[in-house]
Amino acid sequence: MQLIALRAYVRLTYDLRACCHQPVTFSRAESAPLLSGRRALVTGGAGGIGAAVAARFAELGATGTILDIPGGPRDGIPQGWQVADVDVRDEDSVAAGVRAAVAAHGGLDAVVAAAGVVPTWQRTAALDLTDFARVLDINVLGVAATVKHTAPLLGEGATFTVVASLNSWRGDPNIASYVASKHAALGIVRSASLALGPAGVRVNAVGPGPIATGALVGRMSARRDETGLTVDEALDAAAKATALGRIATVAEVVEAIVFLTAPMSSGITGQLLNVDCGIL
Ligand SMILES: NC(=O)c1ccc[n+]([C@@H]2O[C@H](COP(=O)([O-])OP(=O)(O)OC[C@H]3O[C@@H](n4cnc5c(N)ncnc54)[C@H](O)[C@@H]3O)[C@@H](O)[C@H]2O)c1
Repeated sequence: MQLIALRAYVRLTYDLRACCHQPVTFSRAESAPLLSGRRALVTGGAGGIGAAVAARFAELGATGTILDIPGGPRDGIPQGWQVADVDVRDEDSVAAGVRAAVAAHGGLDAVVAAAGVVPTWQRTAALDLTDFARVLDINVLGVAATVKHTAPLLGEGATFTVVASLNSWRGDPNIASYVASKHAALGIVRSASLALGPAGVRVNAVGPGPIATGALVGRMSARRDETGLTVDEALDAAAKATALGRIATVAEVVEAIVFLTAPMSSGITGQLLNVDCGIL
């Protein structure tokens, strides 16, 4: 009886394997760079983590397009990449940026939504709701517009990765709008992974802890009156709060995004991959 049940289980497993998507191997010669032939789109790719993603993707053989706020800095755009002036709050502007990416590279295989803002500290009783809406507009509706306009272009093996945050799972008394926005971004990731999974498209998020980008250092400096901490002291306190006793680097966040984009993570979708040196 047990043997019959085992045979039925094996046959069912085999049938499921036959009918579902098999692990994806993006065509790449063994010696070719990891992201060779991939056509990327990176929102917020002109600065901070997004710029480091674009640079690393280019090193690994991807071509691509950066969508970033009009009038922002344009230094360090990788060779062969282009920038489209896009405010992710403006859906028409996102749609135009996606069209420009497709016109330049013929399609899209790897999207990274890194555009985002962190508000100034506000206590609960002093929440500025206009600013709250601005943060949601960029960090939530910006991601929603990006997935909406890229999803129809993504096929088997393509990926969409959101730069979410430690605050996608943890609260913070001083930045409720940011916490709400990053929880919502994870909700978009989980929902889109279910919607796009049948087409073989994977959707994931990375959850960086504090990363010493210019943006974070600037915020720490601006908060000195409230915290009583210099930037170095604030970074030291953040380091002491992790299992590894240090904060993660931009490069470590970028490598996690590379991993989620490359075929070696082909069984992973709908996940938040924390890159925080162990904030538990
Ligand atoms: N630095 C950290 O400690 C940290 C930690 C966790 C998560 N994050 C997330 O990482 C992402 C990048 O942050 P960062 O530290 O590199 O910040 P950053 O300010 O250095 O870079 C953000 C980029 O997004 C662009 N951008 C902002 N608003 C935009 C808009 N409306 N439309 C298009 N582009 C826009 C900016 O011009 C900039 O190039 C954000 O989503 C942020 O929430 C950062």
